[in-house]
Amino acid sequence: MSELINSFIERASKLNKTIVLPEGEEDRISRAAAVIQANGIANVILLGDEERIKGDHIDLKGVTIINPKTSEKLGEYAKLLYELRKDKGMTEEKALELAKDNLYFGALMLKSGDADGMVAGSINSTGNVLRPGLQIIKAAPGIKTVSSCFIMGFENTLYKDNKVMVYGDCAVNPNPTAEQLVDIAIASEQSAKQLAGIDEPRIAMLSFSTKGSAKHENVDKVVAATKMLFEKCSDMQVDGELQVDAALVPSVSRLKAPNSKVKGRANVLIFPDLQAGNIGYKLTQRLAGAEAIGPICQGFAKPINDLSRGCTSDDVVAVVAITALQAGLN
Ligand code: ACO
Repeated sequence: MSELINSFIERASKLNKTIVLPEGEEDRISRAAAVIQANGIANVILLGDEERIKGDHIDLKGVTIINPKTSEKLGEYAKLLYELRKDKGMTEEKALELAKDNLYFGALMLKSGDADGMVAGSINSTGNVLRPGLQIIKAAPGIKTVSSCFIMGFENTLYKDNKVMVYGDCAVNPNPTAEQLVDIAIASEQSAKQLAGIDEPRIAMLSFSTKGSAKHENVDKVVAATKMLFEKCSDMQVDGELQVDAALVPSVSRLKAPNSKVKGRANVLIFPDLQAGNIGYKLTQRLAGAEAIGPICQGFAKPINDLSRGCTSDDVVAVVAITALQAGLN
C-alpha cells in the first residue's frame, strides 16, 4: 500500500463506520472484508448467500452477512423503494424484485441508515453500481450533480511540483453542461481539501483554448462554467479556460494567461468532458507513473464508490477506507 493509501486507512480506522459490500460472494471482496474487519478499518456488511460466502474459508470474524433475498428487512426496504420511486412509475411488485438485488438492497440500507457507505463494482459496471445510488440516495443538499474524482499521487515520478493532485470528473458524467462543470469543480475542491489533504486547491478549468485563443462551442461551455464559478465562489482560486500547459507550467502561464489567478500552479484539474477526463488520468498514470486513486464518487448524499472490475482485494480495502472517510464528512 502507498503512503497515501495508508494515510486514508489510518484516518478511517478512527471513525468506526459501517460499509456495505453488495458483492459479498466475490472472493476479492470477502478477502478484503476480512482484512478491513480484523484491522478495525470499518465494520463490514457482506451481501450474498451465507454458505457461498463462507465457502471461501476466509476468517470473517466480526463481519455481518446478509442475504437480501431472505432478509427480514426486505419488505421494509421494498416499501421504501416504492415510496421513493412511485412517481417515476415504480410498482410494489417491481420494488420487491429490485430490493432483492444486492446493489439496490445496499443502497436501501444506506438510505435507511443501516450502513454509512457502500462499495461495489468488482463484478458490476459503473453504471449499474451508480444507478441505484442516483435513484435512491441522490445528490447531497445544494448539489445537483454526482461526479467523481481521482486523487493522483506523484511521489515516485519525475513531476515534482505537486505531490498530490485531484482530477475531476473522470468517471461519471459523459458530457457535463456548464452548470454541471460548476458542481464538479466545487465537489473536486472539497475532495482536494477533505480527502487529498490539499490545503490550497488551485483549480484549472481545462480546454483546448487558453483565454480566447480558440473559438468553439465546446470552449464556450468551459468559459461559461468559469464565469459562474467566479460569481458563485468568489474565494475559490479558479481560472479558465486554460490549456493544460497553461494550467501546470508557470512559464507557459506567464505567456498565455499572464493575469491567471492559478499562475501555472494548478493542483485540481477539471476536464471538460468524460472522454478528456478518463483519457487524461490514464495518460498520467501510464506515462508518468503516477498513482491513480479512484474513481472516488463525490456529491452523493451518502458515499457510494465504484471499484474497477480489475481491482485487487488491496484496492477494495483502500476504497472502503476512502468511503468511510467520506461518511465521516457527511
Ligand atoms: N448526478 C445526479 N443525478 C444523476 C446523474 C448525476 N450525474 N446522472 C443521472 N442522474 C439521475 C437522473 O436524473 C435520474 O434521476 P430520476 O430517475 O430520479 O429522475 C437517475 O439519476 C437515473 O438516471 P438514468 O438516466 O436512469 O441513469 P443513466 O442511465 O443516465 O446513468 C450514469 C447515469 C450511470 C452515471 C451514466 O451517466 C453512466 O453510465 N456514466 C458513465 C459511467 C462510465 O461508464 N464511466 C467510465 C468508466 S469508469 C473508469 O474508467 C474509471
